Amino acid sequence: MNPSPRVPAKAGTHSSALQEPLASISIGAFPDAAEAAEPWVPAFAGMTNYVSAPLSPALAVKIVGIDISRPLSADDKDAIWRAFLAHHVVVFPHQSLTREQQFDFAAHFGEVEAPEARRANGKRHGVAHVMANLDTNGNPTVRYSPAANYHWHTDKPYQGAPPILTTLYAVEAPPSGGDTEFANTALAYDALPEETKRRIARLRVVFRPAFDVSQPEVDHPLVRTHPETGRKALYLGNHSTKILGMPEPEGRALLRELLDRATQQQFNYRHRWQVGDLVMWDNRCLVHRAVLDSDTGKYRRVMHRSLVKGAVPV
Ligand code: OGA
Ligand code: MN
Repeated sequence: MNPSPRVPAKAGTHSSALQEPLASISIGAFPDAAEAAEPWVPAFAGMTNYVSAPLSPALAVKIVGIDISRPLSADDKDAIWRAFLAHHVVVFPHQSLTREQQFDFAAHFGEVEAPEARRANGKRHGVAHVMANLDTNGNPTVRYSPAANYHWHTDKPYQGAPPILTTLYAVEAPPSGGDTEFANTALAYDALPEETKRRIARLRVVFRPAFDVSQPEVDHPLVRTHPETGRKALYLGNHSTKILGMPEPEGRALLRELLDRATQQQFNYRHRWQVGDLVMWDNRCLVHRAVLDSDTGKYRRVMHRSLVKGAVPV
């Protein structure tokens, strides 16, 4: 059951964009909120064990009644994947997962990235890695930098083949603050004026890790086509530096303007974490950020994270 069946677009079928003068790119008026809503598709229709509920009109669904610490049946896995493709963010509340179990859950959906920070003895590769807001004394803190998760971003777009999905599991959640926001860049793309879609269709966006600008740049399509749904989505956010073939200030301005549009309220879901939440999201069609507010850094926040490897974006 594909919730929004579309014929996958072939790469390279758009011929118009680069013939236009790039300086004249304008992305038009903001869309109506009413246009933003995606059809709600119950991925678990007919599966009475589970309850699923959309969390916002724009994206995200919650699935309860499933214990993801155990190996998934083929039916469960398919249903989760359908929900994931339809809603881009799936929240599983009330889970109890070891780092190994989280890794194994992610591994149902592809090859899991080995954690970057391995133990000195090289052991325990097959586990989720720890992300905590703690300083060396174990006290909560805010680590703000140009590379921090507080900026809207997609995970690791500076890789040639960036991860398909990220899973994040709340081990310690703050009583307030520390939310995560997601914005649906497929809906945002759909809402662009046709003229803008045509003009940006063949542009390529350059990414480089904001935490290490000495690393090589990679470029990806600014409008990427989801390999499984055929939907187009904007691919941008932190770590994007410029548009290939466009003067840098102009490329940056275009990226800024598209990101501002994509992250408007009507395309967003804001997740308030509870201990035991496992959230998985699709890096191919959304941007996300850790919300920075006055309570950020007041309380301990400890998360475990596993990413599933992806393919070269087209
Ligand atoms: C991430 C991320 C945001 C957060 O894990 O990739 O961006 O709120 N996390 O922790
Ligand atoms: Mn992230």
